[in-house]
Amino acid sequence: MSGENKMATTEDRIVIRGLRDVAAAETRLSFVDPNGALYYLGYNIDDLVGRVIYAEIAYLLIHKKLPNKDELAEFKSNLISAMQLPDAIVESIKAAPKNCHPMDILRTEVSHLGEYDPEGYDLSRPANIRRATRLIAQVPAIVATIYRSRIDQTVPEPRKDFDLAKNFLYMFRGSPPDDNETAVIHQFMVLHADHGFNASTFAARVTASTNSDMYSAVTSAIGTLKGPLHGGASEKVMDMLDDINLEEEVEEYIQGMLDENKKIMGFGHRVYKTEDPRTKHLRGIVENLCHRERTLSLYNKCIKIEKIVYERKKIYPNVDFYAAVAMDALGVPKEYFTPFFASSRISGWVAHVIEQYEDAVLLRPSSKYVGEYGRPFIPIAQR
Ligand code: CMC
Repeated sequence: MSGENKMATTEDRIVIRGLRDVAAAETRLSFVDPNGALYYLGYNIDDLVGRVIYAEIAYLLIHKKLPNKDELAEFKSNLISAMQLPDAIVESIKAAPKNCHPMDILRTEVSHLGEYDPEGYDLSRPANIRRATRLIAQVPAIVATIYRSRIDQTVPEPRKDFDLAKNFLYMFRGSPPDDNETAVIHQFMVLHADHGFNASTFAARVTASTNSDMYSAVTSAIGTLKGPLHGGASEKVMDMLDDINLEEEVEEYIQGMLDENKKIMGFGHRVYKTEDPRTKHLRGIVENLCHRERTLSLYNKCIKIEKIVYERKKIYPNVDFYAAVAMDALGVPKEYFTPFFASSRISGWVAHVIEQYEDAVLLRPSSKYVGEYGRPFIPIAQR
């Protein structure tokens, strides 16, 4: 084909930069309403938060219905059993370099888990539901094991009388959370469970669309979540809050960043044109934890930052802003904020992977070629 003809085929293509507003597939799992609402399988999150435990939402996402009491009891028990990781994974976590980010280890170990799947390459729907259930439990178990191993402590065995979310915090910190902390971890995990075609979910679906396995899809998702424009933002929020020594310094610090056209982490959103519907819940969670001196100080800084950013840019905080302060109040070190996000979003990722298998279409966009044609080839000896 001549260069001229090639140009004619790509010239007409319209590039939707960043795939903004492009619907890449249909989904029944969640709806991110630009007007400031979020629905899981048709349920508004405002009706769920504080009224369900996280396992109910994980069940809802993979089974597309809320569980009854018996179904929930069986699901919870399957999750707790799956929190016991294969020995090879635990040993590999312990052998990881001490200076790499926990998200690097999480990404590696989810990929590693694929080698130990008891059902091998059975990609049938029932096998995928069981695999999804295991991954929902294994991701938080890996995160707890990474942290405990880094502080040279053992991970407690998951307790049968605790559910997944409570066990996660228990195994991570090494002591049982109180009722208030348990309520917070459930709300946090419910709020992070799913969010339409966000970048990491889309990455998982692209991998699944080639009929690759669930571990490969979740590994893609973890690598994508890690970036600071996505789930990595909450750690950066805490860097910023720590960098501002005193509440009185907030104004100068934030105005200075905006003057230099720097992004304020934890603000802005691709879809919401108004406040992220998860923010009010997370702000409320943090308000209830303000009896802690450090939380109160962080909260006061956050309120000031919100006001300044809104006045200057007319943008709102997203899920990562107050989530950072909530996790800090739970005693989670900042480099584990994104792993906590992943430990919740795993339920959305696996549900989307199953939905993508059912859609059975390869996700493969085109591109508009804007490079050169017809360059004369010069053999290496003459270059
Ligand atoms: N700080 C300052 N200005 C911002 C910010 C921000 N955080 N976010 C957006 N803007 C401005 C941006 O500069 C642009 O202004 P202008 O029109 O004057 O050029 C306008 O708002 C529109 O922004 P955009 O870059 O076109 O928005 P986008 O849809 O491409 O990006 C985003 C969305 C989330 C990547 C971006 O808002 C951002 O980088 N935020 C900071 C990182 C962050 O908090 N990420 C978490 C996202 S939500 C949870 C998740 O997915 O994990």
